[in-house]
Amino acid sequence: MTLKIVAIVISYFLGSVSFSVLLAKMLKGIDIRHHGSGNAGATNTLRVLGKGPAILVLLLDVLKGIAAVWLGKWLGGDSLWIPALCGIAAIIGHNWPIYFRFRGGKGIATAIGVLATLCFLPALYAGIIAIISIFITRYVSLGSLIFVILTPAILLMLPTYPLTLFWAALIICVFAIWRHRTNIKKLIHGKENKLGNKGEKRV
Ligand code: G3P
Repeated sequence: MTLKIVAIVISYFLGSVSFSVLLAKMLKGIDIRHHGSGNAGATNTLRVLGKGPAILVLLLDVLKGIAAVWLGKWLGGDSLWIPALCGIAAIIGHNWPIYFRFRGGKGIATAIGVLATLCFLPALYAGIIAIISIFITRYVSLGSLIFVILTPAILLMLPTYPLTLFWAALIICVFAIWRHRTNIKKLIHGKENKLGNKGEKRV
């Protein structure tokens, strides 16, 4: 039991490493949370720092999710809940990082890593549809929401997958929707930033 709790706690600390905040500080000496959309994530890194740093942040944030789930698999015994909870803990760390005054990102890149490791095919199907929607609309937030909503929906439709994974994906979906509440309002009012737009400054 102790090891399982340790795995979940380590996952939270791992998720709390905010690569966009660190990279923006290193490259430009700025706090990315005061620029663009104010979000500590890959999309805002693209706006503020450009393509290269954004790809790096995306990969590292995805990797955090993968590493957390593997840690859970390693220390969690037979339980499927422990890898899932480790993944969720990494997303919570990303969104509310202990090292950065609990102001982090929206957890999508980390969720990609977590869901692709927990249930590769459902995450892949949802990811393909999400990417197509981003190409068509140029709204990353819409694609992010489509990804987190479709993954549990697909899991529910495929009876070969255990319900534990559906519940885990649903929890991840709820966190993502909560973190995207401002984006959702902007999407409804047609004011959301499109890919390529600089976004408003948040001080
Ligand atoms: O994953 C974050 C993305 O969906 C939205 O980011 O910076 O446009 O709020 P942003």
